[in-house]
Amino acid sequence: MVNLKVPCRPIIAYRPIRPSDLVVLEKLHSELFPIRYESEFFHNVVNGHDIVSWGAVDRSRPNTQSDELIGFITARIVSAKESEIEDLLSFDSSKTDQTLVYILTLGVVESHRNLGIASALIHEVIKYASNLSTCRAVYLHVISYNNSAMLLYKKMSFQCVRRLYNFYFINGQHYDSYLFVYYVNGGRSPCSPLELVALFVTFAKSGFKSVAAKLWKNEERKISKWPKCKESGCLLPTVQNKRMSTGEVSRCTFV
Ligand SMILES: CC(C)(COP(=O)(O)OP(=O)(O)OC[C@H]1O[C@@H](n2cnc3c(N)ncnc32)[C@H](O)[C@@H]1OP(=O)(O)O)[C@@H](O)C(=O)NCCC(=O)NCCS
Repeated sequence: MVNLKVPCRPIIAYRPIRPSDLVVLEKLHSELFPIRYESEFFHNVVNGHDIVSWGAVDRSRPNTQSDELIGFITARIVSAKESEIEDLLSFDSSKTDQTLVYILTLGVVESHRNLGIASALIHEVIKYASNLSTCRAVYLHVISYNNSAMLLYKKMSFQCVRRLYNFYFINGQHYDSYLFVYYVNGGRSPCSPLELVALFVTFAKSGFKSVAAKLWKNEERKISKWPKCKESGCLLPTVQNKRMSTGEVSRCTFV
């Protein structure tokens, strides 16, 4: 289907957000989000106070609009130790300066959606985070009903790591949120895939040992029950007995 609102060939460019974006940025936030942000937040974004941000513009729009924001992403660097996802990181406790990048807001105007703009903005944040040697992950919250955003994060290989009940309170109603994480610079959860494999191997080994031990016990018990089995005519060759599962043993016992 042709989107009539977007020029045939939008020319999307990405640039830092500037003080001249203030009004449009405020307008876009009030249109796209159910949450109201304080004016201090917008001032911090456009002036780069504690917040990093990128904007998307469509250069193919008429002159007056060619530099107007059609998308944005804002983020903040936070200390890993003080963050709510501290327990989701495998820490080197000697490194106290580890950081995370928390995505505060992300939005694209409706007319320019599904063109990969949000993906490109997230890429900017990931690139930025990856270039910070102290940074271990990028993370964010998403309200539980925002399926398109969740699909986007999953597609970008973010991991959904936690559900936070009643995280948002909007217009008198509570909503859950999901926490998504994208690890960078060797950052990882305390149970990385490698650790899980190692855990599984150890578990499998100890499981095998205990099964073997149980079988051995059964074997010993069976020897004492031999006469009974013998009587019932279900005596099996020794080799086969060693491979018996517990079920087979009991079948033998009760025949
Ligand atoms: C969520 C949002 C930022 C996506 O922006 P976008 O520029 O359209 O996203 P992209 O084009 O980069 O989408 C990339 C992927 O995200 C997923 N996606 C995005 N919008 C989707 C939708 N409406 N339905 C299903 N999947 C969607 C798809 O997997 C898509 O990949 P595909 O096009 O190959 O299928 C945009 O819809 C938006 O601004 N929504 C309102 C504000 C908001 O919810 N912000 C996020 C807060 S956490």
